[in-house]
Amino acid sequence: MTPDRSAPRRRARLAALGGYAPARVVTNAEIERRVDTTDEWIRTRTGIRERRYAAPDETTADMAAVAAERVLASAGLPSAEVDMVIVPTATPDALFPATAAIVADRIGARRAAAYDLSAACSGFVYALAQATALVEAGMAGNVLVVGSEVLSRVTDHDDRATCILFADGAGGALVTAGDAETTTGFLAFDLGADGSGADQLVLPVGGDRRLAAAGGAPADACIRMDGPAVFRFATRVMVESAQRLLDGLSMGIADIDLVVAHQANSRIMDHAAERLGIPPERLFNNLELFGNTSSASIPMALAQARDAGRLSPGDMLLLVGFGGGLTWASSVVRYEPLGEEHQWA
Ligand code: ACO
Repeated sequence: MTPDRSAPRRRARLAALGGYAPARVVTNAEIERRVDTTDEWIRTRTGIRERRYAAPDETTADMAAVAAERVLASAGLPSAEVDMVIVPTATPDALFPATAAIVADRIGARRAAAYDLSAACSGFVYALAQATALVEAGMAGNVLVVGSEVLSRVTDHDDRATCILFADGAGGALVTAGDAETTTGFLAFDLGADGSGADQLVLPVGGDRRLAAAGGAPADACIRMDGPAVFRFATRVMVESAQRLLDGLSMGIADIDLVVAHQANSRIMDHAAERLGIPPERLFNNLELFGNTSSASIPMALAQARDAGRLSPGDMLLLVGFGGGLTWASSVVRYEPLGEEHQWA
């Protein structure tokens, strides 16, 4: 892309959403047959009943391309008008080429610049922050942000502490230039990282498609997690980050129509909801059917919230991500869609 630095000041607008979940459903009963756990333990400790796994020949880029096309269809935006594709992912098809470059090619975004972003489950909101900065600086007009993961390929399916959580999917959003006079757009971001907790959540390899043929990554290359430590971190930052944003904007939780947090564990969200005073009808939770899809979880949840009638044009959203790094990323944004609404699947 060639940035137009002379563009007048404008606001970045959350203009469209789309998601994709692979077809294969993996129930808790299936996991029960492999490791020493129970459906009841998984449901009460995490809120998850089933999750989706990619097909053996399906990659992060494949899923991201479908989600990206759904975002563009929802906006009514031709792919030739996309300036930038950012793919936040912990499971890229390769270290290079960037998965984003494959996605841009697949959807026909011929003039787009494209790169991946690594911030684990905070990646989607980190990428929204970059997209906002690019649009508001006049560097890009239309930025496609697509989180996509094949976590099933880097999960140790014999480790009962992690295999119950992680899943596959993709979700995306279009960040586009809005009129500074009429667009509310992204009001604020709160991004952070604390590398002192780096060893509490680790994934040594990416989502290389050869892993599928090998039946997944070897156990010592799979996700390792200190669950209770990550749980404590997540509950703390979800509350602190959300509160910091609201205080900075002189807003209260009553000003937020819907909270969409990283879908890691229902107990993390319930704890934060209690501390922040979020009523259940204003907290979106799709863990039961989709598990933890890392950087795909927030955009998948947003698209599903829209399709379920829980998200309407003009709604004020609080997005909160947290994960490996350890990282966190939150934003307050008004949903201002372009075009007609489309079903995500
Ligand atoms: N089934 C049955 N028992 C289990 C299972 C299981 N699947 N997993 C662990 N246990 C056992 C443990 O062995 C332990 O037994 P013990 O007391 O005899 O030692 C007991 O259950 C309690 O274990 P904890 O780990 O303390 O259980 P906890 O209630 O913390 O739940 C969980 C574990 C679900 C992993 C939780 O800690 C969690 O959700 N943590 C946050 C995870 C997370 O959000 N990670 C992703 C962040 S995002 C990213 O960037 C990828």
